[in-house]
Amino acid sequence: MLKIVEFKRASKKFKEFSKTEWGKANKEHFGDASLWNIKKFKFKALDKHEIVGVLTVQYNMGVLYIDDLIVKESHRRQGVGKSLIKEAEELAKKLNAHKIFLYTGKSWASVKFYATMGYTAETELPNHYGKQTWVIFTKYL
Ligand SMILES: CC(C)(COP(=O)(O)OP(=O)(O)OC[C@H]1O[C@@H](n2cnc3c(N)ncnc32)[C@H](O)[C@@H]1OP(=O)(O)O)[C@@H](O)C(=O)NCCC(=O)NCCS
Repeated sequence: MLKIVEFKRASKKFKEFSKTEWGKANKEHFGDASLWNIKKFKFKALDKHEIVGVLTVQYNMGVLYIDDLIVKESHRRQGVGKSLIKEAEELAKKLNAHKIFLYTGKSWASVKFYATMGYTAETELPNHYGKQTWVIFTKYL
């Protein structure tokens, strides 16, 4: 009989299963199992030695995902976010990405920020995190 078990830490067997089965599925989906390969990058914005902003991104198969961008409250509207996004875009170009994407809350100030940075609201995610509407923003390179 099938039994479903919840667990906290991935065992060697679990990792092996995942690697083998995803290898087969990725071969079916993309024709090459090795193409699906997520690379993570982290940036910090420093004012003297103080961290005033952080950005984390993930790159995979031509797409750069902006995972986390936040600027210290006292340092907003001073170009820190813009500098971090520009850095992400430089990285995307170096990696030959064709697209950058992220999602953010529809009612948040970040919507104006991303629009200013040339990102297009592509899709809405209604009733999402916190029952708020979220927006997927993209920029094609
Ligand atoms: C969104 C965020 C990263 C922007 O960072 P920032 O350093 O304040 O942005 P910048 O100063 O580089 O802004 C560049 C331009 O974007 C636009 N912009 C930025 N914040 C804006 C706001 N609150 N209202 C209207 N336009 C805004 C402006 O055109 C601005 O240029 P200007 O100040 O010369 O008019 C910052 O507000 C933040 O950390 N918010 C909280 C976390 C968050 O929502 N992160 C995004 C989640 S995905």
